[in-house]
Amino acid sequence: MKNVWIPCLLLFVLVASCAKDEGRMMDQPTLPDVTPAYRSETPQIFGISFPSEFEAPRFDDRAQLGRVLFHDRMLSQNGAVSCNTCHLQSHGFAEPKALSHGLRRELTERNASHLANPGIQLAYFWDGRATDLTTQVTMPIENHVEMGFRSLESLVERLDQLDYYAPLFTAAYGDPEPSVDRIQDALSTFLSAMVTCGSKADEAIASAMPEFWDPWGVMDGSLTLDGLTALEKRGFELFHGEAQCANCHGGPHFNGWGMDFADIGLDAEPNENASTSVNAGGGFLGNWGPTAMKVPSLRNVSLTAPYMHDGRFATLDQVLDHYSHGIQDVTTLDPRLRDWSGSPLLGGDILIDVGPGLFPISIGLDGNEVPPVQLNFTPEERLALKAFLHSLTDHAFVQDERFSNPFTTP
Ligand code: HEC
Ligand code: HEC
Repeated sequence: MKNVWIPCLLLFVLVASCAKDEGRMMDQPTLPDVTPAYRSETPQIFGISFPSEFEAPRFDDRAQLGRVLFHDRMLSQNGAVSCNTCHLQSHGFAEPKALSHGLRRELTERNASHLANPGIQLAYFWDGRATDLTTQVTMPIENHVEMGFRSLESLVERLDQLDYYAPLFTAAYGDPEPSVDRIQDALSTFLSAMVTCGSKADEAIASAMPEFWDPWGVMDGSLTLDGLTALEKRGFELFHGEAQCANCHGGPHFNGWGMDFADIGLDAEPNENASTSVNAGGGFLGNWGPTAMKVPSLRNVSLTAPYMHDGRFATLDQVLDHYSHGIQDVTTLDPRLRDWSGSPLLGGDILIDVGPGLFPISIGLDGNEVPPVQLNFTPEERLALKAFLHSLTDHAFVQDERFSNPFTTP
């Protein structure tokens, strides 16, 4: 008995001194008796494979450990926040606030990203400054605003004191010892298991074009998207056609195949707490301009408001207002958002084919300034685009127990 009580007493002292709320001491994760399978039933979409960790030994147990870590407030220095404070499952793993509060109620510099298939992203954060998920996952823990641990070593010591981790580390790695590598591996395994491709649009797309990504087949009428309403189909066509959204949000994840950055001509930062949109530049193929942001995936977009890197738009209507008539004529504006139709020789199509990452050209070959595009959506076009964006919601994903909070206190 002695051996049991001493660690318990230590735990009490530790938890009571770290967490403001002493009730936390009783908070143990409730997990299923049998660890569920975390491997996705959809190993790949149109040639984009979900991560190789799926082959890793003990994948399910590592993902389950990651689930506990993700939801555990003990991962912040003072026990105030967990990853899911800012990445809530019911909001597609975003937070319904422009900026989030970290462990001492300070505000983050940017809007909390939503997490949709994080395992297949090529660049993380709005400016794409991280390219490796395994090391990215612990950055928030060391961030002084977000979770505030001075070093990951002190987190390892913390976990060593929490009795519920020993069996979880043993199941995942063969012995109960936590380590920085294991914390990173378990968290990134959990995020890699967060596969979301079960929306209504996904189902229609998968049955219309099982092998090749072919939105053009839908546009020319050779393929039909069964299961979508007429309005949603019209939205799909606009998105991939006249409304030009797919120039950037193209591909089956609606994120420009994961490697597109652009300055979309937003007004100056409306939110004084948000960081000026300076891209650290060192990110993935850091050749985009300093104001360019990652093209976010639009999966689950109906749940992930507010929108943009600073959370400036509360609704999809406001986003559509921006693309319809709000694009600012800044020198760094992505050339795909200029209206090249009146410019001789250099048509928009040429630029689109050359692709992203271009020098931000704003002058046509005739020497005239080319204005930002004004799409001026009609009410019908707006409804259709919104209907299509709503059809990208994967309801099963945001209700999936395997990704939910195993602790009783949120
Ligand atoms: C206090 C709020 C907060 C907490 C806590 C937090 N995050 Fe975040 N997270 C953010 C913000 C804000 C961003 C966007 C930051 C940026 O782009 O500069 C972000 C971005 C991310 C991204 C990048 C997603 C993408 O598509 O680019 C991942 C992955 C992520 N967080 C995972 C985690 C994990 C794992 C934890 C816990 C260890 C965590 N976050 C804790 C606020 C938070
Ligand atoms: C030139 C490339 C480009 C085009 C064209 C484009 N987008 Fe975007 N989109 C982006 C980028 C980059 C962001 C993030 C910008 C930021 O936060 O500064 C974004 C953000 C968004 C967001 C917010 C997502 C979130 O999670 O906050 C939505 C919704 C959106 N776009 C929808 C659309 C629609 C609908 C269209 C067509 C009418 C469109 N986009 C056209 C590049 C583009």
